[in-house]
Amino acid sequence: MNKAYITFAVVLALYAIAVRSDITPAEQCPGQHFDGLEERIQVVPCSKSRCKLRKGTNTTVIFKFKTDSVVNKLTNDVYAIISGVPLPFIGVSGVSACPHVQRADSGAPAPCPLEPHQEYIYTNQFPILSFYPPVPLRVHWSLNNGTADIVCFEVPAVITKA
Ligand SMILES: *[C@@H]1O[C@H](CO)[C@@H](O)[C@H](O)[C@H]1NC(C)=O
Ligand SMILES: *[C@@H]1O[C@H](CO)[C@@H](O)[C@H](O)[C@H]1NC(C)=O
Repeated sequence: MNKAYITFAVVLALYAIAVRSDITPAEQCPGQHFDGLEERIQVVPCSKSRCKLRKGTNTTVIFKFKTDSVVNKLTNDVYAIISGVPLPFIGVSGVSACPHVQRADSGAPAPCPLEPHQEYIYTNQFPILSFYPPVPLRVHWSLNNGTADIVCFEVPAVITKA
């Protein structure tokens, strides 16, 4: 194979990765590090630079996670950061995450306690209410076991008109 052909193939492959439509620009929460956020996290609808949260629609959040220890209690800690100020999303923040967890292998519901080293899938939906301000923000999403975050990520987003 000649060099030009290989270069062309590599460029095509990179382009295919770049335009993958299901990619979510998930970033680390300040001071924390969780591996593989971009592969594990999906916020819908989202583009590769930021998620568009349209008023009057639901935003869906899906991600895979594992824990190192038994988890008896898991709480959604979810809020929007607007100009540095945290504002909770109504209906998700502070409530139990346990009803939103399934086993990754079978898809069966996985009520807490969760077992260590088992892969789980978390799915949730939240409404973008009409009075939310139409501004750029960061979505902060974490699952907290009472003392620490089991997973945490932030996504750049914007609230748009209905
Ligand atoms: C948003 O989700 C809620 C709860 O799952 C559902 O009742 C509602 O119909 C959904 N709204 C839209 C616009 O899809
Ligand atoms: C929460 O998770 C952290 C990190 O995995 C662990 O060290 C801690 O013991 C857990 N706390 C509870 C209450 O399970």
